[in-house]
Amino acid sequence: MAENRAKEQQKSWWKNAVVYQIYPKSFQDSDGDGVGDIRGIIGRLDYLEELGIDAVWISPMYRSPQNDNGYDISDYQDIDPMFGTLADMDELITEARKRGIRIIMDLVLNHTSDEHQWFEEAKKGKDNPYHDYYVWRDGEEGTYPNEMKAVFGGPAWEWVPELKQYYFHQFAPEQPDLNWENPKVRREIYDMILWWMERGVGGFRLDVIDQIAKEPDKGITNNGPRLHEFLRELSKETFQKGNLITVGEAWGATPEIAKKYSNPDGSEFSMVFQFEHILLDQQEGKEKWDLAPLPFVKLKKCLARWQEELFEKGWNSLFWNNHDLPRIVSRWGDDGEYRTESAKMLAAVLHGMQGTPYIYQGEELGMTNVKFADISDYRDVETTNMYYERLEAGYEQEDVMRSLYAKSRDNARTPMQWDAGENAGFTTGTPWIAVNPNYTQINAEAERRNPDSVYQFYRKLIRLRKENPIFVNGKFELLFPEDEELFAYTRTDGETKMLVCANFTGKNVKCPLLGKWKDAEVLIHNYEKEIGEELKPYEAVILVQHQ
Ligand code: GLC
Repeated sequence: MAENRAKEQQKSWWKNAVVYQIYPKSFQDSDGDGVGDIRGIIGRLDYLEELGIDAVWISPMYRSPQNDNGYDISDYQDIDPMFGTLADMDELITEARKRGIRIIMDLVLNHTSDEHQWFEEAKKGKDNPYHDYYVWRDGEEGTYPNEMKAVFGGPAWEWVPELKQYYFHQFAPEQPDLNWENPKVRREIYDMILWWMERGVGGFRLDVIDQIAKEPDKGITNNGPRLHEFLRELSKETFQKGNLITVGEAWGATPEIAKKYSNPDGSEFSMVFQFEHILLDQQEGKEKWDLAPLPFVKLKKCLARWQEELFEKGWNSLFWNNHDLPRIVSRWGDDGEYRTESAKMLAAVLHGMQGTPYIYQGEELGMTNVKFADISDYRDVETTNMYYERLEAGYEQEDVMRSLYAKSRDNARTPMQWDAGENAGFTTGTPWIAVNPNYTQINAEAERRNPDSVYQFYRKLIRLRKENPIFVNGKFELLFPEDEELFAYTRTDGETKMLVCANFTGKNVKCPLLGKWKDAEVLIHNYEKEIGEELKPYEAVILVQHQ
C-alpha cells in the first residue's frame, strides 16, 4: 500500500509541484540589447531555487520571425538568436536540474510560421511532398472557401496565386495551420518532441491544443471529432516515454472535456489550462475589452465546480496570471492601499485549492498593471489593433484607454522588477517595452529583505504545500456560496481538515465561523493581529485541524 502510494507519487510528481512561468523577452537581459535571454535566465536560477518552485515553463524561444512573439515558429529544433543558442539552452537545462528545477518548453503544434521550411516547400506545388502538411482549398481569388475569421482579425484563408489555392490560418496569415490529418505531419512532430526529451526537457505546455483537429469545411476549430484520438497518439508516442509534466492550453474546455485531457490513466496530458474563471469579467457575447462589474459569486462557484468535478477524475491547473492576462492584483485585488494584503490573499485562495499552481513572473512580488500615457508605449499587436479599430469606430479615447489599462496583454509583459536601479535591473540597455514606474517600490531585492513581503508569503505557501499532503489530496468544499464578500472553503483528507478563509473586499467583514476554528493551527496568515471573528481588508488565513 505504502509502496503503491510512493510509486504513484513518483509518477505524478507534478501533483506536488509548483510551476513558475517565464516570459523570456521580459525576464532578464544579459547582453544589454534590451531583450531578455537564456543567459539572463541562467543568472536568475538561484532566485527561483530560493522561491522553491519545481519547474519553469518558458514561453517559446525557438527560431521565429516574431510576428506573434515566438508563437510563430520557423524551426522547432533551434533557438532564436535573440535568446541565445542551443548550447545556452542545454546549459540552462543542466543548471536548472542542479537546483531541482525542470524546464517546460512551450510547444506550438497547431501552426508554424510561414517561414518554416515545410511551408516554403508546401507552396512550391501541389505535388510537393510537404504540400499536405498544411490545410489547402482550391478556389478563386476573392471568393473565400467560407466565412471563417482569424483570431487576430480578417479572414481565416489566405490566397496563394501560384497554386490557385487558399491555405487555412486560425491566427495571423503568417501562422499557417498544420494538417493533423496527415500521419507524416504527426510523425515529424513526435520525432521533434523526442529530440527535445533527449536533451533533458522536463515537460511541455501545448499552445492552443484544442484547435489541432479542425474541420474547416464544417466551421469546426475547437474540440474537433478526432482531437482526443490525436492526443492519445501524441502522448503514447512521446510523453509517456518519459516522466513529464504536460499541460494543454484549452480555451474551450469544460470540466467534462478536461476529464478526458487529464484522465488519471495518463493517456493524454497531466492537466489543462481552462479559462472559464478568467472569462467571467467581460460582457457576455462581447470582447474582453468590454468590461463588466466583477462577478465575485460567479468566480467562487466557477472555481468550486472545477474543484468538485475533477476530484479523483482528473487534475486542475491553478492560475490567475499568464503572459496574455492582466495582473491579478490589479484585477481582483487592490493595487493601491491594500496591494500587499490583497496580493497575498489571492495567492492563499489559489494555492489552497487542489491542483498544480502556476506563478507568472512578478506575481510573487505583487507586480501590478501598467498605465502608459501613450499608445506608442504599447507593443502588443492585439492591443494596438484594438486601439485604432475602436477609435475609428467612434469610441472615446478615454474609454479605450480604460479597457486597455484593465486588459492589455502588455500589463503582464513589462520587465521583471529586480531592484530599484535603472530599468529595474532588467537591462543595461533600452528595454524593448518600458518598465513599470512603480519598480522603485515593488522589486525583488526589497522583497527578499522584507520578512512581510508578498515574495516571502509565496515562499511560505510553496513550502506548506510540500509539508502538508492535504494541499494535494484534500477534498474541496465551498462554504457560504452566496456570500458577496467572503471566499471560504475547506479541504478534507481523512482526519485532517483545512480551512481557507478570505475577505475579498477593502472593508472589515464578520466571519463567525472563525470562532469555531480558534484552536486550530495557523498555517499562514497575511496580518500580524490575532485571528478574531472579523476579517480586516483582504485578510486571509489558512488553518488546519486534526480531528
Ligand atoms: C496562445 C498564446 C498566445 C498566442 C496564441 C497563438 O493563446 O498564449 O500568446 O498569441 O496562442 O499562438
